[in-house]
Amino acid sequence: MGGFEIRNATPADARFMGDMLVEAANWNVTRARPRVAILDDPNVSRYIAGWRRPGDFGSVAIDSHGIPIGACWGRLFPPNAPGYGFVAVGVPELTLGVNPQWRAQGIGRALLKAITRQARAAGHSRLSLSVERANFAHRLYVSEGYITVESGESSDTMVATLR
Ligand SMILES: CC(C)(COP(=O)(O)OP(=O)(O)OC[C@H]1O[C@@H](n2cnc3c(N)ncnc32)[C@H](O)[C@@H]1OP(=O)(O)O)[C@@H](O)C(=O)NCCC(=O)NCCS
Repeated sequence: MGGFEIRNATPADARFMGDMLVEAANWNVTRARPRVAILDDPNVSRYIAGWRRPGDFGSVAIDSHGIPIGACWGRLFPPNAPGYGFVAVGVPELTLGVNPQWRAQGIGRALLKAITRQARAAGHSRLSLSVERANFAHRLYVSEGYITVESGESSDTMVATLR
């Protein structure tokens, strides 16, 4: 595999970001569901529906040919329809996914760092997310400064404070 670069996500990235949302939902391959079933599930599709809405921001990793290989983005949810990682009004929730053949090469971490820069530039002071504790992504988030603020049966809600 060659190198990669990271650029800001555009409205034209919606389809690819849908693919990455499916990767995130299917992180545990023993419980994987078909793309259409995931994107038909409003609890999941709300993370990408209507991309890019006002307030949305995202980063896309591309290979040396400009092909998208990973994405991370933030979206705001209202308190009456919170996402899984909702902590407060005005705190964006993150989604992160990398194409399977590109994993374990630093792309996920680079995307997390890029989205942090974007969030800071947009004036945000915190980012949140929900992750299952069994997903090694949990350790990635801890190593990037995310702290568990709420624990469910198998998932944690985590928050990063941006300095
Ligand atoms: C989670 C995910 C985004 C991480 O992206 P990635 O590009 O593979 O991650 P990185 O290469 O940046 O690695 C981050 C850390 O995780 C570790 N890691 C990578 N792959 C691993 C694996 N299969 N098992 C355990 N740890 C792993 C790396 O060692 C790295 O730590 P290090 O920098 O100390 O070495 C990616 O694996 C993915 O898309 N998974 C499915 C979707 C998902 O789970 N999204 C998150 C939902 S909350």
